[in-house]
Amino acid sequence: MKALVLCGGTGTRLRPITHTMAKQLVPIANKPVLYYGLEALAAAGIEDVGIIVGDTRKEIMEAVGDGSRWGIRVTYVYQEEPLGLAHAVLTAEEFLGRDDFVMYLGDNLIKDGITGCMDEFRGNKPNSQILLAHVTEPRLFGVAELDGGRISRLVEKPKDPPSDLALVGVYMFDGNIMDAVKAIKPSWRGELEITDAIQWLIDKGMRVDPHIIDGWWKDTGRLEDMLEANRIMLEIIEPGNEGHIDSDSQVHGRVIIEEGAQIINSTIRGPAIIGERTRVVNSFVGPFTSVYYDVSIINSEIEHSIVLEKSKISDIPGRIEDSLIGQNVEVGRSPSKPSAYRLMLGDNSRVGIL
Ligand code: DAU
Repeated sequence: MKALVLCGGTGTRLRPITHTMAKQLVPIANKPVLYYGLEALAAAGIEDVGIIVGDTRKEIMEAVGDGSRWGIRVTYVYQEEPLGLAHAVLTAEEFLGRDDFVMYLGDNLIKDGITGCMDEFRGNKPNSQILLAHVTEPRLFGVAELDGGRISRLVEKPKDPPSDLALVGVYMFDGNIMDAVKAIKPSWRGELEITDAIQWLIDKGMRVDPHIIDGWWKDTGRLEDMLEANRIMLEIIEPGNEGHIDSDSQVHGRVIIEEGAQIINSTIRGPAIIGERTRVVNSFVGPFTSVYYDVSIINSEIEHSIVLEKSKISDIPGRIEDSLIGQNVEVGRSPSKPSAYRLMLGDNSRVGIL
């Protein structure tokens, strides 16, 4: 069985972060979201993985390479434009042929992996198996309507959802999906929708099995979802220290200090992770915070946040909370008069000031 991992598209909801980086590479507990997916596929015994890439292909290819790190073989498939999930399947026809495959959306995180449902698909041999989860805001997802345990209807981002069962970003198919993606027409938003392709299978009388997951799952497309994913993953990290903590510092709870990191006269209260070569000086890093590599945090306090690589936070009077700070960002206090907020923010940035 093969896998098709989707890393094309543009992450409009995470802008401006995704103006400059692939949303599948935003780190959760200091590990790119995509790596969790590749680990889950490898654990489920998949070796042959196609990755759909678009504008951000260079970064994705650099981050994943040939896949040998996970014991998988990666084939990159270039999709010129993000014309929909079913379009991605069509684009990968040469790689997929008519083989069975699992399609995995590169920005989805499923805490318990996918080994159980893959075994179910291999054992029951339906034409397709889709993962569903109960959610509070079904309008944001593809939604399934069930009738006596069978899927009767699928709708993409409905204004008036027929149930609270959202499609999780993992789908299993046999070769019939190739006929489906060729038969359907673009939706009102101009995309070839995978929900329409699955509906086509149902309408043709093929068997599409639902698998409702009860474990934790997140589509990390929005800031609040990223922060929650970060919180959940930090709760299960294995604490460890490969950096330096000076005698004036305190580290409490579940904390990872990565290689070359320095904690000077500071408090780190876990769960938290401090990345490689990052310096925390005269500062407080509170629970549910992931600080990536080569960051400096000086005379400042931060919690429940994600800080990306090479950023500098210094001399902040209050506490930074619930924030995602991008790559190479500087957040500081300016000594020059008259005192004023001096900002250089990317398009679509969000800042909250007292
Ligand atoms: O996360 C689950 C949801 O994912 C499902 O409930 C929806 O039914 C499904 O349509 C999808 O919705 P999203 O709006 O979250 O899809 P998004 O555009 O974010 O794309 C998901 C991933 O697929 C993302 O990593 C980018 C990639 N992608 C997307 C498109 C449209 C591609 O590689 N090519 C594409 O053409």
